[in-house]
Amino acid sequence: MSAGGPNVRPGGAAPGGPAGPAAAASAATGTPAEGRRVAVLGAGDMGGRHASHWAAAGAQVVVVADADAERAAALAAAYGAEASGDPTEAAARADVDVVSVCLPTFLHAGVTVAALEGGADVLSEKPVALTLRDAEAMGAAARATGRTVRIGFMRRFDPLWRRVEQDAAHLGTPVMAQATLAAGVRPKLLMHDAYANGGPVIDMACHLFDRWERVFGTPPLRVRASGHTFAAGKAEVAAIEHVALDTVQVDLDYGEAGSAQLQLSWGLPAGVPATERHAYVGPEGVLDVDEDGATLRQGPDATTYAASDVDPWREEIFAFARELAGDGPQGVADLAAGVRALRASLAVLEAVRTGGAVDPAMLQPEAEVA
Ligand SMILES: NC(=O)c1ccc[n+]([C@@H]2O[C@H](COP(=O)([O-])OP(=O)(O)OC[C@H]3O[C@@H](n4cnc5c(N)ncnc54)[C@H](O)[C@@H]3O)[C@@H](O)[C@H]2O)c1
Repeated sequence: MSAGGPNVRPGGAAPGGPAGPAAAASAATGTPAEGRRVAVLGAGDMGGRHASHWAAAGAQVVVVADADAERAAALAAAYGAEASGDPTEAAARADVDVVSVCLPTFLHAGVTVAALEGGADVLSEKPVALTLRDAEAMGAAARATGRTVRIGFMRRFDPLWRRVEQDAAHLGTPVMAQATLAAGVRPKLLMHDAYANGGPVIDMACHLFDRWERVFGTPPLRVRASGHTFAAGKAEVAAIEHVALDTVQVDLDYGEAGSAQLQLSWGLPAGVPATERHAYVGPEGVLDVDEDGATLRQGPDATTYAASDVDPWREEIFAFARELAGDGPQGVADLAAGVRALRASLAVLEAVRTGGAVDPAMLQPEAEVA
């Protein structure tokens, strides 16, 4: 989809909505994290982003922890921080008051609990955790300590996905949604490990489940799915003992609000670029979305919205900093939202296993990831 056409309004308003061109402009200004002392756990892609945005927000990054000593040292040096090889110890340091968790998903719970018990507030990358039991442990520690945990569904801060949420509200009820996300085998092996990042059903679909909860106003009531592991037998994943399911076709029932279909694969030949497109159909119109933007049609004319270059991670970290400073509302997803998205993911895996319909709310803590 191109951004062209008669009604192109980059960063413009939703029909009937309050947003103007300024709506897509960054809200990430000032130094709302001034005085905060931050530990960044994980010095990979997300750790680099978090460290950079915390520093831009005025925080002091005091420690960067990663099992890879070189990575930890390089990122720490960039921010004048200490390097550590022990994320749990770094999370619990008395001189740290905010912890950014950017480790593989199976490690999120342990370090989050350590951070909370050490007196820090936590921003954990999505997904919340790999299992409901781990997520429960995070919730119990948050309740016991009174500290704050937020989950990095950064699409909440992406003007394109905000726009989709706004425009979907103009389609009437019920809405029928469809999304296709397809990519070659991911270069990061852990993404395909059922016991590390959990494969795309846990790692990627959580973004959609969080978005669709906003579109439909409810989590899915029932999930049906079929699945495959397209990468099975491919050389890229040969070193993984438990290769996660990488390809699913999912039907989600949102009751009177509508229904959704998701087609998701990370099992295509390595190098196939990630693509994503959505369509939303309702009695009042149709909304098409891809990486370039969104087009709403409610009559003969189309309204097109071009994707913006706002960095949603930066927006998210500034929003969390403002929340912690008592200077802004809670905009970053809470733990409960992370758990609802995880329940939807686990329901998909359970539906593939059983061939039946699964109610995500009924899953027990021991729901399996592989
Ligand atoms: N919000 C998003 O869209 C988004 C995008 C990518 C990743 N993520 C999430 O961020 C998290 C990290 O992903 P990433 O892409 O930065 O991964 P990455 O592989 O780039 O970085 C992870 C880092 O963790 C370190 N590590 C691994 N095991 C460790 C251990 N036992 N102890 C200490 N360090 C260890 C690795 O050395 C690596 O530097 C994951 O949970 C992932 O799902 C979110």
